[in-house]
This record gives sequence, structure tokens and C-alpha cells, in this order.
Amino acid sequence: MKIAFVGKGGSGKTTLSSLFVRHLAATGAPVVAVDADINQHLGAALGLDEGEAAALPAMGERLPLIKDYLRGSNPRIASAQTMIKTTPPGEGSRLLRVCENNPVYDACARPVELDGGAVRLMVTGPFTDSDLGVACYHSKTGAVELFLNHLVDGPDEYVVVDMTAGSDSFASGMFTRFDITFLVAEPTRKGVSVYRQYKEYARDFGVVLKVVGNKVQGQDDLDFLRAEVGDDLLVTVGHSDWVRAMEKGRPPRFELLEDSGHLALRRLRTAVDETYELRDWERYTHQMVHFHLKNAQSWGNERTGADLTAQIDPGFVLGEVCREVHGESVTGLREGNSPLTPTA
Ligand SMILES: Nc1ncnc2c1ncn2[C@@H]1O[C@H](COP(=O)(O)OP(=O)(O)OP(=O)(O)O)[C@@H](O)[C@H]1O
Ligand SMILES: [Mg+2]
Repeated sequence: MKIAFVGKGGSGKTTLSSLFVRHLAATGAPVVAVDADINQHLGAALGLDEGEAAALPAMGERLPLIKDYLRGSNPRIASAQTMIKTTPPGEGSRLLRVCENNPVYDACARPVELDGGAVRLMVTGPFTDSDLGVACYHSKTGAVELFLNHLVDGPDEYVVVDMTAGSDSFASGMFTRFDITFLVAEPTRKGVSVYRQYKEYARDFGVVLKVVGNKVQGQDDLDFLRAEVGDDLLVTVGHSDWVRAMEKGRPPRFELLEDSGHLALRRLRTAVDETYELRDWERYTHQMVHFHLKNAQSWGNERTGADLTAQIDPGFVLGEVCREVHGESVTGLREGNSPLTPTA
């Protein structure tokens, strides 16, 4: 399951992403945590000290390796240089799974020990001004988008992305890559205005969007959020002393998080798991093709000097049962670490 936490700066995206990751890990679920936020703080929120966080490898600096691995023997993708953030997988591409070892994890992921088990953490690396543009070839979040577009994840495994709701994610299609998107909003006009903007973008793409009210104090805050976002309000979280202690670098054991916090996290988990039945791999694949065409035409073709629309494999559908529309079906994922490729 792929989950995004988005919202206004300072709303609590990183805090809630990290709490949700801790919750999942405590139940023994496999988790890949991804920091794609402008302010790279997820490592610290998961308990890494400054030195450990600074030593995390940046996905944005490993794009050539990621691209080379993912394109595999796909004949439609001539080189890593012509692979842009939206280039979709096709026959011959290498796909990724949550639970496996592969060169992408080797290069970009590091284990983080939490109460209850270890998770994998990947970070985009710090953002620069050029990363925030619409048409960036070297986009840091592009590495995450490629990861998500090549990922075949099942129901009991989780990828949690701490993300900025910026123009980059809307232009590239990144915002459509999740089973569910949690928009973290404080009970303020600015908090809910980010929700409205997101909802507007998301409307035509079947994005499941739920609001998590954060730093909610009392009935007035709750009433405000209910009035502004209606049924999209999933749950609210109040001020947490546990979070405050963590911010001081003294995280108590996770089980000591306030009961209301645990309750909220279980609600999030239920909401995530319930979206599994809405999964539509064909739509997921169509959307990546849609955004690839858009990006190819608006900047990619010109930048690479190639016709990137030819990278699209019309018969390919990503999925847990990967298949070719005009070919034979493959009835499941291959075991082990071998790349999954659909048979022709
Ligand atoms: N429920 C909470 N209780 C106590 N403190 C909180 C809570 N939620 C967030 N905070 C605090 O608010 C601050 C901002 O939170 P956080 O860094 O998670 O927000 P963010 O949306 O990721 O911000 P940025 O846009 O800077 O990445 C942090 O100091 C965090 O500890
Ligand atoms: Mg943050």
C-alpha cells in the first residue's frame, strides 16, 4: 500500500508520517519510509541523530543508477539519459517490491531500528530552487516517482511518503501514485486552503484524499475542520507530549504515545487497508502514461532530443498479476529477487 502525507509547511506531515511508520513497524508490517519533503526531517523524526541523518544516501544523486536498473532490458528505453521521471515501465523493465533486496535499496535505502522492528528509509536529499520547478529533468522527487511507478506492492506492506504538496508533484503525476493521501491540516484557513487546492487537482484522477486534523485543541477547532472539509475529515490529533519529548531528542518508547495518538494511528491504518479494494492497476498504469505524454510533450522530448512518447509500451499493465493485454498472463509474482517482467 502506498501512502502519502501532504499538507502545508509545518502542519505536521513529518511528525504524522513518522508516527504512522512507527505504528506499522510495531505491528511487524514491512515498511519503506520515503522522505520527499522539502525539509528533510523524516530521519530525525524516526530517531536518527544528526550525523546518521546526514549520512543517508540521497536518491536524487543516484538517479542514473536507479534509471539503469529499472529500464533493465526494456527495448523502448534506449538509455538512462532518455529516461525521465515519468518514463513508465514496459516489457523488459525491472520492477520493485517492498520486501526484497535490489540495487535500488542497496544504493538508496538504509535500515532504521524502531521499537518493534526495522524499516527501510529512503530520502530524496535536500531540495534546491531548481527542484521546485515544473519541468525539472534532475528532479529529486523524480527518483521517488520512478520508484513508485515500478513498484508492485501488496496489501500487507507499506510505503509511506512524507511529501510536499508542490507544483512538482502535480505536474509529474506524483500525486496520483498513492492508494490514499493524508492531507495534514491544522485548524486554520491556510491549512484548509491547501486541502481545497489538493482536492481540486485530485478530482479528475480518483485520488483518495482524507484530512488528518493536527494540533486540534477543543471543540471549536473540531467544528471548524468539520465545517471546512466535511466528510473528508478522517481523524484529528491533538497536542502530543510524546512528540514534544521526541523533538527534544528523548523519544520515549512508542507504546507510551498517548492513547488518543494510538487510536488515531489505528484509524489511519484502517483507512489505508480499506482502500485496497479500490486498487485499479490499469488506471494506475494509464495515469502514468497520461503524465508521461504530458511531460514528454511539454519539455522531455526537447530536453532529451528523443521522442519519449515511443517509450510507452501499449500492452503493459503494472500489477500484482502482471500481464500483457495481448499476450499470455503471468499468474503471480516470481519468487526471490528476480526482476518481474511480464511474458510476451
Ligand atoms: N500533534 C503534535 N503535537 C505536538 N507537536 C507537534 C504535533 N504535530 C506537529 N508538531 C510539531 O510541529 C512542528 C512541525 O511539525 P512537522 O515538522 O511534522 O511539520 P511538517 O509539515 O513536516 O513541516 P515542514 O513543512 O517544515 O516539513 C514540529 O516541531 C513538530 O514537533
Ligand atoms: Mg516535514
